[in-house]
Amino acid sequence: MKNKKIKKIIFLKGKRKIVSLTSYTFPISKILNNYCDFILVGDSVGTVYYGMKSTREVTLDMMIAHSKSVKLGAKKNLVLVDMPYKTYQNKFDAYANANKIIKNTKCDGVKLEGGKKISKIVNYLVKKNIPVMGHIGYLPQKSKFFIAGKNKIEKKKLLNDARSLEKAGAFSIVLECITPKVAKEITKTIKIPTIGIGSSKNCDGQILVIDDMIGLSGFYPRFVKKYSNVQKIIQNSVKKYCFDVKNGKFPRTKNSYK
Ligand code: KIV
Repeated sequence: MKNKKIKKIIFLKGKRKIVSLTSYTFPISKILNNYCDFILVGDSVGTVYYGMKSTREVTLDMMIAHSKSVKLGAKKNLVLVDMPYKTYQNKFDAYANANKIIKNTKCDGVKLEGGKKISKIVNYLVKKNIPVMGHIGYLPQKSKFFIAGKNKIEKKKLLNDARSLEKAGAFSIVLECITPKVAKEITKTIKIPTIGIGSSKNCDGQILVIDDMIGLSGFYPRFVKKYSNVQKIIQNSVKKYCFDVKNGKFPRTKNSYK
């Protein structure tokens, strides 16, 4: 049984582009709640917020803590949670951990990295009423950065992966860093929506890491459009504050209590 928010995402395929961003905190998700079709609590939280070298270091407890915070700010939105590395190695672990995430956070579903190889696990979760978003192409939990779909063998594998996930019951699939041609072919082939990141406009929707697109992470690969420079805004504010304190300009009377 699919919930209404998930049905809406599936319904949007072919009608208009689906919009999504990652969020890791309450204040950001309060903003995204008014604009995005869904919010992903990505395990990119590890690299973006904790300065970890890879998402492999992210734990289930970290994902649960951030997802709780996100859900509080995004009451009406569909909120999905990345399952951390090694928390879905078999269907029983996957179910126990996904169930823990959903029960503790009240979020709507989970995202797992992998294609055909994990389709039985995906199917098990779906049968247990846990909505699953797939993720194929470049998989940060599994390998170093690469562009997927550059040759016939890769194209065949990606199409196979997408079909297997659809058959297993995933309601949507993230396509990460897949060539435009192959992204187009996958999007045309499967009935569930594809959400692209670095995979061109040939997808049913798009997702970006919020800190990259607002210019806070300092990580701007080719596929990121930097919509603002929040790093600069924070830097300027901090500089002005330091100047004011050192020069007796802050706090003023109006910032003090009578
Ligand atoms: O962890 C993440 O932020 C993600 C998105 C980039 C799709 O998986």
